[in-house]
Amino acid sequence: MDWKEEYSVGDDQFDADHKKIFDMINELESASDSERRPEFIELIFETLMDYTDDHFAREEQFMRDAGFAGVVEHHAKHAEMDEKLHGLFIRFRDGDRAVAGEVVEFLRQWWYVHILQEDMAYKKS
Ligand SMILES: [Fe+2]
Ligand SMILES: [Fe+2]
Repeated sequence: MDWKEEYSVGDDQFDADHKKIFDMINELESASDSERRPEFIELIFETLMDYTDDHFAREEQFMRDAGFAGVVEHHAKHAEMDEKLHGLFIRFRDGDRAVAGEVVEFLRQWWYVHILQEDMAYKKS
């Protein structure tokens, strides 16, 4: 999963956040492909969730400060994602190891769509 210039939302901090999240998804993918210890995969998963939460909070604060009209809907998308991700994490922690591959697939889809459709809406034109 590679970040490309066309994913730029016109803000260095948020582009850096998105790149870092892509890197973490790749890390999660290679850890689950190489069947690393569950504790190791769980740690990457948890770090990814924490970072995602921080990113969502930063983005929403920025939108509120800028008086961006779509902040409520955007927050709802973030919250939905959070909930889904936490649900998958619980399943993994409870021993459903196959969930790691499912998470990577889901994240890959979600982030492309979210950045290209929803995050782009706050891009300064
Ligand atoms: Fe974002
Ligand atoms: Fe977003």
